Amino acid sequence: MGFISVAVDGPSGAGKSTVARAAAERLGFVYVDTGAMYRSIGLAVCRRGVAEEDTAGILEALPGMEISLRYEEGAQHVLLNGEDVSDAIRTPQIAQYASKVSAVPEVRRFLLNLQRDMATKNNIIMDGRDIGTVILPDAPVKIFLTASAACRAERRYKELLEKGQQVTFDGVLADIVRRDLQDSLRAVAPLKQADDAVLLDTSKLTLEQSIDAVLQIIHEKMKG
Ligand code: DC
Repeated sequence: MGFISVAVDGPSGAGKSTVARAAAERLGFVYVDTGAMYRSIGLAVCRRGVAEEDTAGILEALPGMEISLRYEEGAQHVLLNGEDVSDAIRTPQIAQYASKVSAVPEVRRFLLNLQRDMATKNNIIMDGRDIGTVILPDAPVKIFLTASAACRAERRYKELLEKGQQVTFDGVLADIVRRDLQDSLRAVAPLKQADDAVLLDTSKLTLEQSIDAVLQIIHEKMKG
């Protein structure tokens, strides 16, 4: 029997990673955070001093770049040329770089095989923007996880404050709205709900309720 893939897509800050990670843990599936891969490329580009809009500079940075995933006690670590950058990629600046590099077709092609490969070797829950539409169009379970922009900003704001980052709510909301637009309007693999995805709006749900809802969708799909 082949492996089971669960695709979880949705906008920034919908809680995809927290919910997908917890659901994967309960099911004994491998959790794959594809945003971390785009963020790692964003970090590499930023470190080279390339401007986020500089497509030629982004393309020049790709050859020889190596992105890989490692799992330690079930937690995903992302490596950029062997360096664990899991923490370094979690800043608003790198999120913005990630959004820009992810609009470049060569960058998406660069990551496609790595992402598909994960699904051929493990039962996975993979989160991103185009998993159900482009990366794993045949995934038996697809979930589009969303929440209102205000709810997402509120959650992200608290998360960043807890990490000690200096942010304002309005700044976080503006970042989220800008990234939503960039991610939805880009020409290649835009953020879009797959026709056969189940829509889950977590605006009024607690984290625990969101995890339960995801597990229930998975169970029902696998049953039927
Ligand atoms: O989920 P995240 O915030 O870590 O993602 C960072 C950026 O990467 C986001 O702005 C869009 C992009 N991304 C993408 O284009 N495709 C994916 N499968 C995952 C992320």
